[in-house]
Amino acid sequence: MNHITLALSKGRIFDETLPLLKAAGIEVLEDPEKSRKLILPTNQPGVRVVLVRATDVPTYVQYGGADLGVTGLDTLIEHGKDWGGAGSAGLYQPLDLQIAKCRISVAVRADFDYAGVVRQGSRLRVATKYVGIAREFFAAKGVHVDLIKLYGSMELAPLTGLADAIVDLVSTGNTLKANQLVEVERIMDISSRLVVNQASLKLKQQPIRQIIDAFAGAIGKN
Ligand code: PRP
Repeated sequence: MNHITLALSKGRIFDETLPLLKAAGIEVLEDPEKSRKLILPTNQPGVRVVLVRATDVPTYVQYGGADLGVTGLDTLIEHGKDWGGAGSAGLYQPLDLQIAKCRISVAVRADFDYAGVVRQGSRLRVATKYVGIAREFFAAKGVHVDLIKLYGSMELAPLTGLADAIVDLVSTGNTLKANQLVEVERIMDISSRLVVNQASLKLKQQPIRQIIDAFAGAIGKN
């Protein structure tokens, strides 16, 4: 049987993937916000959705726990760096879905002289979930950094003195504003990507191609 498993994370990626699924004729039959189930059935008996942590989507798809997945470019890049050279092996990335758009930026307290620190070549203490991306960015700028790995609420770090700066996702900028932080550098633009397990693509080519093509045709239409 050619069952297809799609890995999604709850929240913005799930919500913004629904219209793309609809274009592929797939409707998820349960609301993840109301159900405690981790495997959600769809209107197509051969297609199911599994709910995983956002950072686990590339792992599920890479190792075949899911055939396809939707994941932010931020997560995908960080996954690649975490897993060294093998980070993207077996992961086919056919589409930029143009959803969940945001950016990864450097932010500091409004009273912190970031430009001065960079100019003087002083050390910068940076808190982030994106250690790999931050390391590479500051290395390319020639800025010496001490990186502190956090798993959430990065905005607190400069407010409590844990760090001078954060590297985090910015969408509307409201979270930074609400915490009196300012964006001082944009590192990269982010959007969500479709990822496909390469072995699945060979073994289940027809149904997977159908989904890729339907998604491709629906990009940017919502
Ligand atoms: C992200 C990010 C910021 C916020 C930015 O968090 O970490 O906190 O969104 O959005 P804004 O610019 O529109 O205010 P998210 O809600 O994705 O949850 P997270 O803390 O788990 O990353």
